[in-house]
Amino acid sequence: MRALLVTGGCGFIGSNFVRYVLRERSDWRVVNLDKLTYAGNLANLEDVSKDPRYRFVKGDIADRNLVDRLFKEEGFDAVANFAAESHVDRSILDASPFIDTNIKGTQVLLEAARSHWLGEYEGKVFLQVSTDEVYGSLGETGVFTENSSLEPNSPYAASKASADLICRAYHKAYGIPVVITRSSNNYGPYQFPEKLIPLMIWNALQGKELPVYGKGLQVRDWLYVEDNCRAILAVLEEGRVGEVYNIGGGSEKRNIEVVEAVCECLAKKLGKPVDRFESLVTFIKDPRGAAHDFRYALSCEKIKKELGWEPRVSFEEGLERTIDWYLSNQDWVREVITGEYMEYYKKVYGP
Ligand code: NAD
Ligand code: DAU
Repeated sequence: MRALLVTGGCGFIGSNFVRYVLRERSDWRVVNLDKLTYAGNLANLEDVSKDPRYRFVKGDIADRNLVDRLFKEEGFDAVANFAAESHVDRSILDASPFIDTNIKGTQVLLEAARSHWLGEYEGKVFLQVSTDEVYGSLGETGVFTENSSLEPNSPYAASKASADLICRAYHKAYGIPVVITRSSNNYGPYQFPEKLIPLMIWNALQGKELPVYGKGLQVRDWLYVEDNCRAILAVLEEGRVGEVYNIGGGSEKRNIEVVEAVCECLAKKLGKPVDRFESLVTFIKDPRGAAHDFRYALSCEKIKKELGWEPRVSFEEGLERTIDWYLSNQDWVREVITGEYMEYYKKVYGP
């Protein structure tokens, strides 16, 4: 049985990934190291918590002693580093935790891999989960390839780009078998309701305003989370060491189109007039200012050609599945929205 360290497995993508690996692979066992920040919830993996191939450890990826102890105890064959501060707006309010976790934490994991794998890299892999935001912003046309330059604009994006470069350097300097995935915007079950799609679903259900930054004209490429999990596992198992793989949904939308799609789907599901939700749309002063990237779009030719991966879930289908999940899991949302979230919400959106 191969041992996989997943970090940040109690977050949105990490929890979907842990569940996906345990379901799709009988020869992996998973240790999930998660600090349980505001974005991490044990409830996200309650259904697998009793699986003998799963172990949860509460802790910080930047804690060298803890990470060393886990490497010794578990003899990891692979690391998939999802742990991160992941929200752009929070990084603009305070960049510090982004530096500590996203940069320092990644270096601690790499250093543990270096000192425990001791140059014997056969069958080992260190997968860094990165983002299209490291490339910066596009205009109305063009796409980023894996060779595009790194031009991050927010503290979040800069911290992820820094981590990518540290991974690259550990590969070049010590031979650590690093692979990096850079995906576009994920959506699906268990996404914390600070992100665009779950925030719009939840506010609409509460009859609260739907705050669209600026005129809502920015473009994001939407990727259903399970398609991303399948791509990440393919890169972990078959990706070429030292390489970067873009993972996009092939589904570009302006933000306002996404919000309208949420309103339409909710109206259909709940049998209400769409205007009841669309009338809640409120255009607000953009809290990201010049750090707000206009457009992301990825060329995914490399992963398609090398690993045969393509997204399977269309935006319409993925959105419907997502809305069904939030409608059936309103208690989950109530539990993750704590006082901390309300404080954060006031800072970004006003009282
Ligand atoms: P998330 O914010 O939902 O979850 C992050 C998880 O990491 C939480 O469980 C949190 O408790 C944990 N964590 C934070 N700091 C930690 C630390 N110091 N030690 C251990 N655990 C810690 O994030 P997400 O949206 O699931 O993103 C996961 C990864 O994917 C991140 O690396 C992010 O940069 C990347 N990514 C996300 C998207 C997206 O659309 N959400 C797209 C591309 C890449
Ligand atoms: O592109 C990948 C990135 O996608 C990941 O690396 C990040 O971790 C993830 O958070 C996400 O970043 P974005 O900033 O693109 O996602 P978010 O859902 O926060 O915002 C999507 C777009 O919607 C963005 O242009 C800002 C806008 N927006 C967002 C919120 C929360 C609004 O207009 N109103 C809102 O209330």
